[in-house]
Amino acid sequence: MLRLRSVGRVAELAAQAEATQATGHTGIAHTRWATHGVPSERNAHPHISGGLAVVHNGIIENHEALREALKADGYVFTSDTDTEVVAHLVEKKLRNTPDLFVAVREALAELQGAYALAVMRESDPDHVVVAREGSPLLLGLADDGCYAASDASALLQVTRRMVYLENGDCAEIRRNGVRICRVDGTPVERAVIESQLSADAVELGIYDHYMQKEIFEQPDALANTLEMVGAAKSLQPGLFGAEAESVLGGARQVLILACGTSWHAGLVARYWLEAIAGIPCSVEIASEYRYRDSVPDPATLVVTISQSGETADTLAALQHAKSLGMARTLAICNVPESSLVRETALRFITRAGPEIGVASTKAFTTQLAALYLLTLVMAKLRGRLDAETEVRELKALRHVPAAVQRVLALEPEIKAWAQLFAAKQHALFLGRGRHYPIALEGALKLKEISYIHAEAYPAGELKHGPLALVDKEMPVIAVAPNDTLLEKLKSNLQEVKARGGELFVFADADSEISASEGVHVLRLPEHYGALSALLHVVPLQLFSYHVALVKGTDVDKPRNLAKSVTVE
Ligand code: M6R
Repeated sequence: MLRLRSVGRVAELAAQAEATQATGHTGIAHTRWATHGVPSERNAHPHISGGLAVVHNGIIENHEALREALKADGYVFTSDTDTEVVAHLVEKKLRNTPDLFVAVREALAELQGAYALAVMRESDPDHVVVAREGSPLLLGLADDGCYAASDASALLQVTRRMVYLENGDCAEIRRNGVRICRVDGTPVERAVIESQLSADAVELGIYDHYMQKEIFEQPDALANTLEMVGAAKSLQPGLFGAEAESVLGGARQVLILACGTSWHAGLVARYWLEAIAGIPCSVEIASEYRYRDSVPDPATLVVTISQSGETADTLAALQHAKSLGMARTLAICNVPESSLVRETALRFITRAGPEIGVASTKAFTTQLAALYLLTLVMAKLRGRLDAETEVRELKALRHVPAAVQRVLALEPEIKAWAQLFAAKQHALFLGRGRHYPIALEGALKLKEISYIHAEAYPAGELKHGPLALVDKEMPVIAVAPNDTLLEKLKSNLQEVKARGGELFVFADADSEISASEGVHVLRLPEHYGALSALLHVVPLQLFSYHVALVKGTDVDKPRNLAKSVTVE
């Protein structure tokens, strides 16, 4: 058995493997996102015990108790990770059985927490055991062998035939095939699914970065997501699933649960749902909601939003809502086979295609498209959408991909702004109404990939505190479409200007804000009414991307972050 570990990029490990001229046809590997113990070689996976090796995604919650018991049994720990207990525990079980599959299942019975595990041992290199509880895991069945991974996109280079394991499933992989069973040993069958994704979808192609590719894919991603309304003359609840009419129609209020960028999409949707569909809506960060004592109403429509469908906090928040008796559930998700989609009564799959860059872009705009459709369907079910408005709204939706394309053409101007901006240490983002969440999203994009400290505020809140931060070193970025709040926003911008703050204003063609010294103005080609939030986020994505390029950061894999946050 050869163990190679390194800190940094996978490419460094690949170079190490090449240098050792390692041979073999079975292996396990993991890119660790540190939960217990700093990122270091000694904490990197695989962890070994005797001749056995383990990789693990997730968190073993009872690792401290297990560690003490295993130490008492004489096991010596060489890392600070929770994972190492799994290696020693399985090794201990192997003292009573020669069968690795049995030993792993016995060990699993003692683990609390979340895991996707792969285990193998030196004495039987043609045998790998995998198990799943709470963290995603799927098998890929290829002509030349069997693969296991956390995400389908990791396997597209070798196969499109996938088997999605469920929580509580374990599998043993041998040369002659795969056997799946539950932790107690009961055999189970899981369907083989032909992935609809092509290997090209995860290739960079002509682009330098996935984030860049994904920003420019937005017109197509939106067109695909909105395809089902492409030729429609009316909106049907069936877009959200067979039971949608009764589930959506009977809802008295909406509760949106999500994290990060998906939470921002939910915040925009609240403005739409309340104003257009006339239904009360609250939006909660999933990690807060799951631990909060809230007042449940069974007539609530619980909407979970997630690109990956594997975000641990969002999944747990959904379970929490269901445990409180709220059964009207909808997932808006980009991954059809994800855990989230399997847990809700209704679903809408955004068709953005695989999103690889850690900073979410096309997932966000397609989520907004889905949420706008939801708003219109709810409005219709509640008698708030007349036939004429419905036709007008459908027409506006069909135009969205072309409108986004025109916004993307502003890239050269945005690039020039990025040059002016990249030396800044801090930034304030302002927006009002449904553009406040767009300011939040702009700030998140900037901090994620350029590491510039950025905060977003509803512009009216400026004078209640953050204005104290404004001086010539604090640039202010304003999302300023020509809506009913524009005049108010202009006053807020004057407050900034009067204090020497440099303004970068993303306006509409007709916003009537002029450039002057210290005031940079970029005009989006058209004013887009209720949907303008969807357009106004695009220049902010491009802006962050170009600032990060000037700063030379790792755009697609920013430090400390993971694409899919499958741990709590
Ligand atoms: O897969 P999800 O949409 O559930 O992910 C939620 C957040 O982790 C994600 O949006 C994160 O904030 C992104 N890195 C933002 O760019």
